[in-house]
Amino acid sequence: MEIYAQTLKTIAQKFGTPTYVYDLDRIKKQYRLFQEAFPWPKLGIFYAMKANYNHSVLTTLKNLGAGIDAVSPGDLHMAISWGFEKSRIIYTANNMKDTEMDEVVGTGVLLNIDSLSRLEKYAKKYPNTRICLRFNPDVVDGEHDKIKTGGDLTKFGILLEDVGKVKAITNKYGLKVVGLHEHTGSGLIKPDSILNAMEQIMSIATRENFPDLAFLDFGGGFKVAYGPDEVPVNYKKMGSQVVELFSKFTSTYGRQLELRFEPGKYLIAQAGQLLVEVNTIKHNRNRTICGTDSGFPQLIRPMFYDAYHAIENISNPAGENFIYDICGNICETGDLFAKDRSLPEIRENDILSIQDAGAYCYAMGGIYNLRPMPAEVVVENKKIFLSRKRLTSQQLIDLIRRESIDINRPTILKNTKTG
Ligand code: LLP
Repeated sequence: MEIYAQTLKTIAQKFGTPTYVYDLDRIKKQYRLFQEAFPWPKLGIFYAMKANYNHSVLTTLKNLGAGIDAVSPGDLHMAISWGFEKSRIIYTANNMKDTEMDEVVGTGVLLNIDSLSRLEKYAKKYPNTRICLRFNPDVVDGEHDKIKTGGDLTKFGILLEDVGKVKAITNKYGLKVVGLHEHTGSGLIKPDSILNAMEQIMSIATRENFPDLAFLDFGGGFKVAYGPDEVPVNYKKMGSQVVELFSKFTSTYGRQLELRFEPGKYLIAQAGQLLVEVNTIKHNRNRTICGTDSGFPQLIRPMFYDAYHAIENISNPAGENFIYDICGNICETGDLFAKDRSLPEIRENDILSIQDAGAYCYAMGGIYNLRPMPAEVVVENKKIFLSRKRLTSQQLIDLIRRESIDINRPTILKNTKTG
């Protein structure tokens, strides 16, 4: 934990709980480490903002020179509104509709197309323009089945063997393919996956197939160690192998290309934590249940992916260890942050910190049971700032009521089918 327990206690006291805390200095450190690990002169780091769209996080990464991997109109307009240059945003939607395509093209942001069907529709409407193409690398990896994006079982990308069909479309409509893209999965476990995926893309990235390439984008997926037994990946070693392979490729291709990645977890997972307060201790036969004031809608990874998140009892770090089920406050049995976890004695009103919660935690959050999302606080240079407020329950229901339409109003549209 790089933010000291005293600072966390101050945050919990001042802003209440549940509260996400992001360490902006840690994000900066991760960014520098990534740059150092991949020493390629034209390295592009396109942050996968689906991992965390908090504006302080985005601004920190923007100031470091990051671009953006956007996957929805929301991502796209949010990134533009916080000052990211359009030329440093790539838009990778899956199963997009025509209006979404038009919206992206209207902003001038480069589209990364991931199916033959979309490519054809795009080409007809926007001939002689620039595009990027997403291929399925046919490499299967990721830290959970739900987040593997390569191979036969996934819906993503154009098949490598369809490159001939791609060329027929791009040639017919004069499209300039400036980039090729792949994303193998999140939390890549096998050491060679990235190299294997790169080789697959490079095998089709010939001058003959794609004479206008400016970059190759190998997505994200850089694993961080969540559990105590996970060995951290040696990114320096991986990076030098990647750079060597890319260097060979560019000399064959005959031009120095940009080497792009889209890290999410690597940059921010370890920079975040969720502070919760314990309100109930229940001794049920041989289980001790620890009830907290947040739940799975606010941090869903343990319930959704059986993900491990380390937990610290910042109120009693030196206490004697006992075994606990750390639960939330939602009306579902699966609402657990950790099961059978050994932790220093937990008392009611203690503050727990759920660690490594910077990526895909707040961003995947919701308001199930009508509990508002936690506040978000950032720490930079030992200073504490409130970055986003927690709504009160009243504010949350006011918001919902404002959007709710009285179905008895006379302006109701007639359903033409049923009369
Ligand atoms: N690029 C593309 C096209 C992606 O689909 C993703 C993640 C990334 C980059 C970033 O991957 P990362 O570096 O963060 O592994 N909710 C899951 C992770 C889903 C990842 C979806 N795509 C989790 O909490 O583990």
